[in-house]
Amino acid sequence: MERTSLIRRIVAVSRDPEIQRLAQQYGREVFGADDLADALDIVKTASPDLILFDHRFNPGDIRQFLKKADKNLVDVPVVPIGGEDSDAGLSEEFIRIGAYDYLQGKRDYNRLEQIINRIKKNLNTADHQLKDEKGSLKSDCEQDMSHFFVEDLAASVSMVGKSCATVNTLKMTKLVAGSQCNPILIVGETGTGKEVVAKAIHSLRHPKEKFVAVNCAALTANLLESELFGHVKGSFTGADHEKTGLLELAGSGTLLLDEISEMPIDLQAKLLRVLQEKSFRKVGGIKNIECKATIMASSNRNLNNEVQANRFRRDLYYRLNVGPITLAPLRAPDRSEDIRLLAEYFLKTSNICPEKRDKVKSLTQLAMEALEKHDWPGNVRELSNVIERAILLETTDKIGLSRIIIDPYECSRVSGSPRANLIKGFSLAKAERELIWRALQETGWQKTRAAALLGITRATLYAKVKQYQIEKDSCIAKKSAGVEVGQNDFPVSSLSKPVAIC
Ligand SMILES: Nc1ncnc2c1ncn2[C@@H]1O[C@H](COP(=O)(O)OP(=O)(O)OP(=O)(O)O)[C@@H](O)[C@H]1O
Ligand SMILES: [Mg+2]
Repeated sequence: MERTSLIRRIVAVSRDPEIQRLAQQYGREVFGADDLADALDIVKTASPDLILFDHRFNPGDIRQFLKKADKNLVDVPVVPIGGEDSDAGLSEEFIRIGAYDYLQGKRDYNRLEQIINRIKKNLNTADHQLKDEKGSLKSDCEQDMSHFFVEDLAASVSMVGKSCATVNTLKMTKLVAGSQCNPILIVGETGTGKEVVAKAIHSLRHPKEKFVAVNCAALTANLLESELFGHVKGSFTGADHEKTGLLELAGSGTLLLDEISEMPIDLQAKLLRVLQEKSFRKVGGIKNIECKATIMASSNRNLNNEVQANRFRRDLYYRLNVGPITLAPLRAPDRSEDIRLLAEYFLKTSNICPEKRDKVKSLTQLAMEALEKHDWPGNVRELSNVIERAILLETTDKIGLSRIIIDPYECSRVSGSPRANLIKGFSLAKAERELIWRALQETGWQKTRAAALLGITRATLYAKVKQYQIEKDSCIAKKSAGVEVGQNDFPVSSLSKPVAIC
């Protein structure tokens, strides 16, 4: 087997000579440790680049080790090695408690090779960081992020984030993509990036195959069934030609069943059969068709609750829930670190105003703080929209606080939150009117440019200007009772207030 170049030191916590030999293939120096206490002593003095644990150690042992070794480990990757009869789900448990990766067995050379390469990349990054003027090392998660993002995912999907939650999601994404796990369940609130993860798994697992998606909430039961399975000619009124279903169309690629919780219960039973038998029949058909696709299902509802409420089949839930990937909401303490990075990313990549692309380059400190304070019920999608709106409105090269406008619809979705009260008396119509007014101000009342900025036709703009009685010399906010007017700036209303005060 061809070997990658070596890393400096590996600690192999194992009495198995084969594992010791494996470590020797990749480390210039290898330290053998018999048990956890021994391993702790060694890492305190040896500063290893990798620690391998054999299959005797369970997730509880590793957690205990990580806790005790805390200060000495800082960012040393810990990789448990499974045994022949290790549970398939064990890898996820290890990753969840902080393991860097997982080897299926002591002959999982390919994986180990990849791990060594990533560690080497990280070590190079860390060396650079040490030479950095600031002299501070990035966190463990940041270092992890660099290799996951750059190495594996950036080519086809953009998954931005450096928080621990995102790094763990990326680890799980890689782990699941590299396994035989099928079906795959991806859960998380709306806008957290479930489809991004689905595409990442797809592009890691079978990049050349098709990725097809269907929203289970968007179609009636019959339509969804025929969309998924296809139908033969004459199988029902209106079936005047044979139709290929998405299960077949996906081939050896991926079929994403979005909003799986909304799938009608009868169809859930049929889907379960496909997952178990790996074959299906078209509606009205008699021929069995093999299903080779990876089936992914995503949900922003808690499926367990749906099972309790008898809206989702328990057996299907268990079948789907083998290696679930859970995306944290943006407001979660272990993900909120991503807000800044995502905001900068959307600022750089947005196409909303091509002419501003290289002009609006950053956000003011206050604007950024406002973003970080908001709780983002619509998650990454909402953040992306807020940034695009800010780009649209900004006239200088820095997005200021007054350009950070929260969508009242998103605010109102958080029932019972203090923000819901703040938008009382406000409406989408008012939001639209304000936005139009801003676009007109921005463009010096050139209606063609304002329409382009807003992404509507000139005719629509004229109609809306008329509908809302927007006039050049009038201040629109004065028309809305109880709304303050800011000096030399756009009127500040409960809608257009910066998020900081939402
Ligand atoms: N980590 C990320 N980096 C960059 N963009 C992201 C990230 N996560 C999500 N996005 C962007 O946010 C938007 C919403 O993501 P996505 O469609 O994957 O969310 P979702 O969880 O499937 O939402 P829903 O439940 O509403 O279907 C997309 O435009 C996506 O590109
Ligand atoms: Mg989605």
